[in-house]
Amino acid sequence: MLELKKVNAKVKSNNLEILKDFSLKIKDGEIHVIMGPNGTGKSTLSKVIMGHYQYEVTSGDIIYNKKSIKDLEVDERAKLGLFLCMQDPTVIAGVSNSEFLRTAKGELTGEKVNLYSFIKDMESAMDDVKLDNSMLHRSLNEGFSGGEKKKNEVLQLKVLKPSFIILDELDSGLDVDSLKVACLNINAYLQDNPKTSVLIITHYPRILEYIKPDYVHILSNGHIVKTGDVNLAFEVEKNGYEGYDSNE
Ligand SMILES: Nc1ncnc2c1ncn2[C@@H]1O[C@H](COP(=O)(O)OP(=O)(O)O)[C@@H](O)[C@H]1O
Ligand SMILES: [Mg+2]
Repeated sequence: MLELKKVNAKVKSNNLEILKDFSLKIKDGEIHVIMGPNGTGKSTLSKVIMGHYQYEVTSGDIIYNKKSIKDLEVDERAKLGLFLCMQDPTVIAGVSNSEFLRTAKGELTGEKVNLYSFIKDMESAMDDVKLDNSMLHRSLNEGFSGGEKKKNEVLQLKVLKPSFIILDELDSGLDVDSLKVACLNINAYLQDNPKTSVLIITHYPRILEYIKPDYVHILSNGHIVKTGDVNLAFEVEKNGYEGYDSNE
């Protein structure tokens, strides 16, 4: 279970306070959705959970499986099973996709990953997400289209087997068919790993047609101002975020 307790967090470079007394509890196997206008801090929230170096938690705590992870490094959090499917995946020129994934897998499991069997597993996982096998050997995300980057994030998820998944606008950059394929892969993963929790950040209910959420939250002014079920997402789709900016 992940719990954020009255988290205040700021951008280190300019001291901009983004999260203000942000609290949220996500139990094992639950699927939560965060919605909110552009620039409210949704990506900041996801990076704060992961421990991104550009953000500082100034007060409050982040608890994962009963332990505080607030002061852990990104790789330590990843080893505990946290995974972020990034809104804008990072390009790393000179590091091939397969090298990156095999190293990450080795670091996570603490075991040496056999190259031959790994490539075989990769190729089948790539077929699942409908990514061309040649992309294994290209530099990570370099020259990938928006959709390919997102599918590659889902590929990472399938390989790294996290217990807590954050999907930061998975639906941006994916066409209708690719979004469906991505979601079906995530659903299959969740079916095999029913204790895995998911935090979905999105503007559009379309993704929720495939991945059924338990709760939908509206983020405004640095914290959650409204919680509901999937119908809240449809309400936002229809009426926008107006009316959710107060401290309800
Ligand atoms: N690393 C950063 N440096 C400067 N400003 C940032 C940084 N990260 C986030 N911000 C600012 O914080 C606010 C929230 O950003 P973000 O979390 O990306 O919003 P959202 O994902 O909800 O659209 C924005 O005003 C953004 O410009
Ligand atoms: Mg964002």
